[in-house]
Amino acid sequence: MPPRLSEHSHVPLFGTLNLGMSPQAFTKKHWQRKPLLVRQAFSGSALQTRFGAAPDLLQLARADGIESRLIQQSSRGWKVTHGPLEHIPSLRTARWTVLLQGLDLVWPQARDVLEAFRFLPDARLDDVMVSVAGPQGGVGAHLDSYDVFLLQVSGERHWSIAPPSPHHQFIPEVPLKLLAEFHPTEQWTLLPGDMLYLPPGWAHNGVAGATGGAGPCMTASIGFRAPSRHEFLNYALQRWADDLPGPDPRFADPGRAATAKPAQIPSDLDAALEHWLRQLKADRRTAQQLIGEFLSEPKPVVWFESQPLLAPGPWLKTLRKQGVRLDPQSRALYSGDKLFINGEAAPLKADRIMRRLADQRFLTAEDCASLDDSMPIVGALRQWHGLGWLHIGATIEGLS
Ligand code: SIN
Ligand code: CO
Repeated sequence: MPPRLSEHSHVPLFGTLNLGMSPQAFTKKHWQRKPLLVRQAFSGSALQTRFGAAPDLLQLARADGIESRLIQQSSRGWKVTHGPLEHIPSLRTARWTVLLQGLDLVWPQARDVLEAFRFLPDARLDDVMVSVAGPQGGVGAHLDSYDVFLLQVSGERHWSIAPPSPHHQFIPEVPLKLLAEFHPTEQWTLLPGDMLYLPPGWAHNGVAGATGGAGPCMTASIGFRAPSRHEFLNYALQRWADDLPGPDPRFADPGRAATAKPAQIPSDLDAALEHWLRQLKADRRTAQQLIGEFLSEPKPVVWFESQPLLAPGPWLKTLRKQGVRLDPQSRALYSGDKLFINGEAAPLKADRIMRRLADQRFLTAEDCASLDDSMPIVGALRQWHGLGWLHIGATIEGLS
């Protein structure tokens, strides 16, 4: 089980993101189109203070339930060790990196960084990964199929990049998918607070600097996923089959004639199966449901701690007095009047207050003031509280 550290404030504690342009201009000019280097996207010193010391962060790599990898490079080649990690090299040792995946779900600092990127849809978010590296540490030249913001938290990292190419070849038999050839077209050294945005398919190599005045090299990768057709259909067809109404019909062939060609697929069996396949036509309602469930599905590592169900009376009182906030692991999305939470369609309409909960990820006592017992939202919030999907209090005391 991962450690339960999952509380965060609603406001990034290290200031707002400076892209050097408006989010609007960024999404128009750069998103999915071309890289962008931003010097001092955040205040470097505020970032470093908020993230704390590298050794503390590295402790998370020893924990169960946090996806971590140690990548080491030596004259014998590359070695990858999957966490929980027992042995982590010292910060003075060269050529190693620890990667901590999905930190936004468990580490408040990572969640705070993420808040600043919510000018992009939650449905596109993958996760926040943080790397800690010894001098010259890195994961080698590679490509990602995701958009990524590479934010330097502390120390220095030297980045080289090259545009997408149809001719990329990978080194065979290494545990990482590394490029056989890499001819960088641009390079920069990033200092704390600097950030590099890369669209999918751009080759890149980040090499940690010496652990000097700027401290050990820590880089946060804020990654945005785009589903592939295979990923979506894989999910949707399975879910669709599970959700078909009525009893599950089974093929039957009473009175079948004896066959002289036992290997031949019988035409009646062929026709029955084709008929079931052709029945799979999604109307808007089915499509909307499958899309919402798919996009709001939490990662497989996610688990929620259930909490005792409050009785309806005290629950309404608590809501009106303190409001609620979504658990950082909860994925809540809406489409039209449908709300989806953690892979399920909510049993009520996505009205103004529900959409507000999803967009702002909390409801204040004021937002809840007009709620009363007759409203289905009150019961739904109570159930979600019981499941550990949300918590009492719009904010965490002392953090905002
Ligand atoms: C790193 O932080 O070392 C690697 C991030 C990346 O290249 O995607
Ligand atoms: Co990468």
